[in-house]
Amino acid sequence: MSKPRILVTREVFDETIAFLAAHCDVDANQADVTLTADAIGRRLKPAQALMCSLTDKVDADLIAQCPDLKVVANIAVGYNNIDVAACTARGIMVTNTPGVLDDSTADLAWTLMLATARRLTEVESYIRDGEWTGWRLKQWLGVDVHHATLGIIGMGRIGQAIAKRAGGFDMRVIYHNRKRLAVDLEQRLNATWVTQDELLAQADFVILQMPYSKETHHLIGAYELAKMKSTAILINSTRGGVVDDAALIAALQAGTIRAAGLDVFENEPKLNPGFLALKNVVLSPHIGSSTEATRRAMAMTAAANAVATLAGQRPPNLVNPEVKA
Ligand code: DGY
Repeated sequence: MSKPRILVTREVFDETIAFLAAHCDVDANQADVTLTADAIGRRLKPAQALMCSLTDKVDADLIAQCPDLKVVANIAVGYNNIDVAACTARGIMVTNTPGVLDDSTADLAWTLMLATARRLTEVESYIRDGEWTGWRLKQWLGVDVHHATLGIIGMGRIGQAIAKRAGGFDMRVIYHNRKRLAVDLEQRLNATWVTQDELLAQADFVILQMPYSKETHHLIGAYELAKMKSTAILINSTRGGVVDDAALIAALQAGTIRAAGLDVFENEPKLNPGFLALKNVVLSPHIGSSTEATRRAMAMTAAANAVATLAGQRPPNLVNPEVKA
């Protein structure tokens, strides 16, 4: 019996390909040149499975060209690159990679928070540029993370992993989430639910950790930034588009807030050039989950989801359980 066919749109690890090859005929873009929508359409036509990443747009037009497609396995926890409703309507399962990246992504949010509070990228440039002439009492003053108030908007698994780390810094943790956590979980995390406006008004650090959707588009714009303390720092390590980048740049220029640490941007990788002119931002290129162990685990999780679906099983990380295959 011939094996099902899978298209892997971006470079993955050798062990991922080996695992897939044991179950499927694999068409893998190991050259890692981004495939155009046309190229994906052409190569996906004869396939039953797609393993893709957040840089691939999987929309109604694409899946309409692929009558045999059974599963779209995203190598990411977020899946705003996929038209899930269109997949569901065609009986295509959509899967993601939750869990395996929580701690690495939480670590990166903390990296940005600490780096922004202590102005790490500014001081590193200062040293590299040969400008350091000696120690001074009032040099490069930052702000304390310890004992400050941490506000987390979006208290899913990653938000909770961020909150857990705050205990070691003796922080007060407040959070806002559509659905309030169970009381015992709130107690374990030492986190207090507040309204979004209360969070914005009270937090010294605001970390965004909700998925991107129509509802969360520009969740943080000029109005919300104006509600924050002028000493506050904003961290976005979730998705570009959750923040109105132009409004954030204006707020950082005007001193409406103190600083921002950003791993994600609207229209990335083409970020708004306004960010580059600002000293009070720490920038990283969407690397929240990018440790070797985590990226390997994400690729294997996506592969396992695809293989399970092709074997007629319910994949472990099904995003659209309402699908009728
Ligand atoms: C995700 O999993 O959604 C991340 O953004 C990928 O790095």
